Amino acid sequence: MNADAPIGVFDSGVGGLSVLRALRAALPGENLVYLADNAHAPYGERGDAFVADRSLAVARQLRDSHGIKALVVACNTATAAAITQLRDAHPGLPLVGVEPALKPAAAHTRTGHVGVMATRGTLASQKFAALHGTLAGQTRFVLQACDGLAEAIEHDDAAKTEALCAHYVQAMGPFGGRPGAMDTLVLGCTHYPFAAGVLRAVVGPDVRLVDTGEPVARQTQRLLATRGLLAQRTQGGLTLLATGPLMALQAAATRWLAVQA
Ligand code: DGL
Repeated sequence: MNADAPIGVFDSGVGGLSVLRALRAALPGENLVYLADNAHAPYGERGDAFVADRSLAVARQLRDSHGIKALVVACNTATAAAITQLRDAHPGLPLVGVEPALKPAAAHTRTGHVGVMATRGTLASQKFAALHGTLAGQTRFVLQACDGLAEAIEHDDAAKTEALCAHYVQAMGPFGGRPGAMDTLVLGCTHYPFAAGVLRAVVGPDVRLVDTGEPVARQTQRLLATRGLLAQRTQGGLTLLATGPLMALQAAATRWLAVQA
């Protein structure tokens, strides 16, 4: 593994840009290669076997064509379905996954009630069940599978994003700081931070929205530092790739990362 090589980052589509944003802030000297598997999106309602196959194919492509030194799985659904298989297939490659931020949410909540929005695939996974099982004793988590929401964000469909956010938030129950209400909302899909403004308007100002971009960036930095793989340059580059149309990804990167792609 070579410190000058890029870090690979992938998601089903534009969502992982929310993680990429944190990676660029924490590791400005790194070259990053971002792959949106948008020819096969969304992952969240496709089932584990499909998502695991796609994740393995994408990791292989990033290694073979770009010689990556580390891989960030910037997708909760892919992490839940495939992180173990990815580790088995790529022993020695530093790998970082994302999972819904239940632990930080449990540490933050004052009311003891936390909402969790994620894809159907993430919430149905054994990995999520194990995480939930360790924390559900002290905190009440209201789990909401948000079918269609990642897709609406992916297609930059503002009307649908607003309608689905309002629908799912209402289905979860009361939000706010008073006893019995959810004062914390976990954004358990990397697409959802791009709907944070809409969600904030629906849940109100007293609710903390929690995502995983920064912790994942810190974990990536730690892993690379431990292995002597941090790049020594001051300014890294960004390569955007997509298995489907590239234009949507470039537009999202321009909008959300202030990158001229
Ligand atoms: N962004 C992905 C996640 O974090 C999944 C979105 C999708 O393709 O359904 O779960």
